[in-house]
Amino acid sequence: MTLDELKKLAVSMLDRSYVPYSHFPVGAALECSDGEVFTGCNIENAAYSPTLCAERVAVGKAVSEGHTDFVRIVVAGRSENFCTPCGVCRQLLYEFNPDMEVISLNAKGEELSVPLRVLLPHGFGPDYLLKE
Ligand code: THU
Repeated sequence: MTLDELKKLAVSMLDRSYVPYSHFPVGAALECSDGEVFTGCNIENAAYSPTLCAERVAVGKAVSEGHTDFVRIVVAGRSENFCTPCGVCRQLLYEFNPDMEVISLNAKGEELSVPLRVLLPHGFGPDYLLKE
């Protein structure tokens, strides 16, 4: 899939967002090394803390379908700021590939493309725990 197609998919997910509290829709499209793509939107909750970010929904869909080899993710918002992943989502993504490209979009469709390692320097990864 081209980057433009991936961006369109992430933007299309904005309409699926369930955001009655923040009114801040986020859409995500997560691409795997074999070309499979998993989408997500944010899902809010009256109790607030159960809220799921769009990126975490996409990761959950991918992992539950047997995909963990992620190469890039597009995160779309409708704000003038680039919709960069929150800290929790950075950590979740880091688990699978610190070198994945994170492409954040603003309302104009402009993009900020940054490797995850730059968004989460000195991140805590599986290597820290899996050593014998
Ligand atoms: N949100 C995401 O979906 N992804 C992010 O990385 C940033 C925040 C959502 C959570 C909440 O539904 C809304 O944006 C406002 O914080």
